[in-house]
Amino acid sequence: MANKTFKRHTITSALPYANGPIHIGHLAGVYIPADIYVRYLRSKKEDVIFVCGSDEHGVPITIRAKKEGKTPQEIANIYNGLIKKSFQEFGISFDIYSRTSNETHYKTASDFFVTLNNKKAFREIESEQYYDEEQNEFLADRYISGTCPKCGHLDAYGDQCENCGSTLSPAELINPKSMLSGSKPILKTTKHWYLPLDEYESWLRQWILNDHKEWKPNVYGQCKSWIDQGLQPRAVTRDLNWGVPVPLAGAEGKVLYVWFDAPIGYISATKDWAKQNNKDWEPYWKDKDTRLLHFIGKDNIVFHCIIFPSMLKEHGEFILPENIPANEFLNLEGNKISTSRNWAVWLHEFQEDFKGKEDVLRYTLCANAPETKDNDFTWKDFQAKNNNELVAILGNFVNRVMVLLHKYYGGIVPAKGVLFDIDEEIIQSIGNMPGTIENSLNAFRFREAMANYMELARNGNKYLAESEPWKVIKTNPDRVATIMNIATQIVANLAILGEPFLPFTSTKIFDMLGIQKLLWESAGTVNIIKEGNIVQQPELLFTKIEDEEIENQILKLKNTLIENSKMIDEAPVVAPMKEIISYDDFTKMDLRIGKILEAEKLEKSNKLLKLLVDTGLDIRTIVSGVAKHFKPEEVIGKQVTVLVNLAPRKIMGIESNGMILLAEDHEGKLVFVTPDQIVNNGSGIS
Ligand code: 2FM
Ligand code: ZN
Repeated sequence: MANKTFKRHTITSALPYANGPIHIGHLAGVYIPADIYVRYLRSKKEDVIFVCGSDEHGVPITIRAKKEGKTPQEIANIYNGLIKKSFQEFGISFDIYSRTSNETHYKTASDFFVTLNNKKAFREIESEQYYDEEQNEFLADRYISGTCPKCGHLDAYGDQCENCGSTLSPAELINPKSMLSGSKPILKTTKHWYLPLDEYESWLRQWILNDHKEWKPNVYGQCKSWIDQGLQPRAVTRDLNWGVPVPLAGAEGKVLYVWFDAPIGYISATKDWAKQNNKDWEPYWKDKDTRLLHFIGKDNIVFHCIIFPSMLKEHGEFILPENIPANEFLNLEGNKISTSRNWAVWLHEFQEDFKGKEDVLRYTLCANAPETKDNDFTWKDFQAKNNNELVAILGNFVNRVMVLLHKYYGGIVPAKGVLFDIDEEIIQSIGNMPGTIENSLNAFRFREAMANYMELARNGNKYLAESEPWKVIKTNPDRVATIMNIATQIVANLAILGEPFLPFTSTKIFDMLGIQKLLWESAGTVNIIKEGNIVQQPELLFTKIEDEEIENQILKLKNTLIENSKMIDEAPVVAPMKEIISYDDFTKMDLRIGKILEAEKLEKSNKLLKLLVDTGLDIRTIVSGVAKHFKPEEVIGKQVTVLVNLAPRKIMGIESNGMILLAEDHEGKLVFVTPDQIVNNGSGIS
């Protein structure tokens, strides 16, 4: 199926939950790749529709609403607006951004359920679930808390322990408690409708594992593992008062499970788009010549590769996805992005601090897209990508060309003359570029595609550096006309081929060249801009980001982590867990108990103490940043934990040999990690 040609494309990207703003992880994992792909298809004049919208159901929205004294709809309204605006500001070019709380969606999702029910697709199963007698409500898993059976954490949720990361079921919690009333819930019988995934197993095995071997290895691998573990029936209804009501008599108080209705939201959104644009929605979902693609993050794989296709197949009227190019996760400064801990770069905040640098973020996130494995965003890298690549390579090339055009020709593009070898070479590389980028895009390798694109700018700089128009102008002005004509054509190619990645920059380049936006078919040649065309005054495409701006962001990240966490749940802030390390990594650290024999303040620093420590192995100097917390006399005689095999470091001119371990709480208070009884100095820690 991979090589089939299609008449049209329906591209969906995961509907974000409307219970919080969106952050760079969402953009990198889902929306930037989807947008690049769609822009590319549009530039190729393909018939494409790009749908998205807010996912407004589910328990987290009801929890947020309760916390803030609002209705779930009010919460959804707030975040739908905020998220939609962020997407617009970053150039995510949806054809429609709809909502799962609108009328079209309620009807579409209800009808879908009824069709499946009429086909006897569901199994009705009774089970016992926790019920809050004070509130007269069944409790969603998230509404039950208790002690984690795995790690003993006191506030684990019914579906997950946020301390140890284990997936749980409410029945596993020790001392379960209703989060609505604080009372002890009872078990009560309730009926739900289940999608019998076990019955689709052999079809799924054939359809995914045999027919779609071309899916990305991370996606294919996850599907294989789900299927190999054996699929279980999944409840598609819930006892909840927020969601699409189950459209059956006797099902009062029950709604469709959010993961049943949300993907149907793609269909509803297409209907809304069609209504608004006087089009027919059906071919986009029913014609076998339509290619359906879902862009998602890895946490959504099972829903899009296994559950939604099973629903579509059972329904019978719809096409199935051709591909689901899911990405892994983006981390931030080495730690997992966490909404609850506010460890994130929120798009609306980026906008405030870096207005006009939306393409820089698009560039950095695409360059670091977690395509095959989790990846990291750091502010330093953001700065480096801007300063060393966008400013120094792309911006610099375009600027040089524009400046020279004005300097030598008053902004009028000169005609080409005789071509030299160096011209033929660059013309050939320009000719290859659209195809090279296309190959990467067609394989959903967006990082590679953008790296190829930047190669064109690099080649442009190299062409100028080697052909040296600023020298040749004195001796051979005709030659310079050819060089500048070709350089201008490279700029035009950069505008066309860069549009999917850097849409704002592309528009600026087209404007500077004084031409209308051109499509992909015009790229790859040096005959795009006609001689005599008048270009505008040069305008810098990118500006340098200073160290101070980056330091502010790093500081802001740390501060918001503390402040917002206090505000959100008044719980002490715990820094997110670092990357998992191997046992071998751990055993490389030689940790010992030692005793501080002497301590003195360093004259030039108000933070550092110079300590003399008996490690049992030797007596050595260690410089430690505790001067603000302890006076020298308070630490002398203390037994402490020392990392003894840390490479020596010079601190304020003193060689420090090792590190003393300290615990730091969220308010920055430091305490020594000490043994709870006196032990021999040099005792190992394992
Ligand atoms: O994970 C999420 O953010 C979900 N709201 C994605 C839903 S995708 C689709 F099914 F709507
Ligand atoms: Zn736990």
